[in-house]
Amino acid sequence: MADFHPRVFSGVQPTGNLHLGNYLGAITKFVALQKTHECLYCVVDLHAITVPQDPAELKASIRKVTAAYLAAGIDAKKQIVFNQSQVAAHAELAWILNCVARLGWLNRMTQFKEKAGKDRENVSVGLYDYPVLMAADILAYQATHVPVGEDQKQHLELARDIAQKFNLDFAASIAALGLGDAFFPLPEPLIQGPATRVMSLRDGTKKMSKSDPSDYSRINLDDDADLIAQKIRKAKTDPEALPSEVEGLAGRPELDNLVGIFAAVNDETKAQVLQAFGGANFSTFKTALVDLLVAKLAPIGAEMSRLAKDEAFIDGVLADGAARARAIAAPVVTAVKDIVGFVR
Ligand code: TYM
Repeated sequence: MADFHPRVFSGVQPTGNLHLGNYLGAITKFVALQKTHECLYCVVDLHAITVPQDPAELKASIRKVTAAYLAAGIDAKKQIVFNQSQVAAHAELAWILNCVARLGWLNRMTQFKEKAGKDRENVSVGLYDYPVLMAADILAYQATHVPVGEDQKQHLELARDIAQKFNLDFAASIAALGLGDAFFPLPEPLIQGPATRVMSLRDGTKKMSKSDPSDYSRINLDDDADLIAQKIRKAKTDPEALPSEVEGLAGRPELDNLVGIFAAVNDETKAQVLQAFGGANFSTFKTALVDLLVAKLAPIGAEMSRLAKDEAFIDGVLADGAARARAIAAPVVTAVKDIVGFVR
C-alpha cells in the first residue's frame, strides 16, 4: 500500500443539542489530535437532512456546532473547520462511491435499522445512503485517521471496504495513470479511552443521544452549572457503594457509565477513579463528578453561547474553512474522474 500523508477527518451532525457523549467520544479527541496532525473538522449538514429539519433551526445548529468546536479548543486558523454543503466534492464523490458500494453492505448497517425502525418504507433514500456519504467525506481528503465514538465503528468499516473495492476495481487504471498501487488510504478509526460510548443518565443500557425525549438522559454542552448538578443528582444509580476495582463495575451499567465519564473528563483510567473512590457512597462520588463537570463544561458552554451569537464571525470561519477544504478535495475528485474514465 502506498504511503499516505497522515490526515484526520471527522464530523458532527448539526441536529439537536450537542451532549457529553459527543464531547467525550469525539470533540475532545479532535482537540488532542490537532497537536500532531493536519485535521479537517466538518459540520455535516448534508447528513442532517437525511431526516426532516426545520430550515431556520438547521442554520442555527450549524453555527452552534461550529461554535462548540471553537469553544472546545479547535484552532480554525491552523486546522480546517467547515460545513459539508459548502464543498461540492462530498456529494460528487458520494455518487461515484454509490456505484462502488454494494447493496448487501448497506443492508447490514445497524444504525439504519435503528433509525428507520418500523417505518422503513417511508424514510428518505438519503438515510439509507448515509454511510456512503460518510465514506465520501473521509476519502475526498484521502484522510487516514478518523476519531469517532463507538457507534460509528460499523460506518468506518464500510468506508474501508468502499476504499478497498475502489482500489481493486480500478487497480489497472490507477497504475496506468501513475498513481501507485492504491488511490485511497484505508481510513483508520480512532476509538479509544474510557468514554467511547457514553450512556444515558436514566438507563445505563441505552446510548446518550440527542434524540432521547428526556433531557435528563444527557448533559448538553450548554447546560449551566445548576442543571448539570440536577441531572447528575438525578442520574440513575444502585444502592451499593463504589468498588475499588474495575471488575466490580460488571453488571452495574449506570455506575460504569459515571465512572467512565469521570475518568474521561479527568484524563485518567477507570481504575484510577476507583482507586480514589473505592468504598465511597454515591453521593460523595456524584458531588465530585458535578464539580468536575461544571469546571470543565461551564466555560465551554459560556464561550459557545458567546460565539454562536456572532453569526458573521462564525460564517467567516466556515467560508474560510470551506475554501481550504475545496483546495484539498478538488484534485482528489479530478483524479477519481480520470481513474473512472470520465472525459473532462
Ligand atoms: P453524530 O453527529 O451522531 O455524533 C458526533 C460524534 O459523537 C460521537 N457520539 C458519541 N460518543 C460517545 N458516546 C455517545 N453517546 C455518543 N454519541 C455520539 C459519534 O460517534 C461521533 O463521533 N455519522 C456521524 C457524523 C459523520 C462523520 C463523517 C464522522 C459524518 N461524516 C465522517 C466521521 C467521519 C454522526 O452522525 O455523528
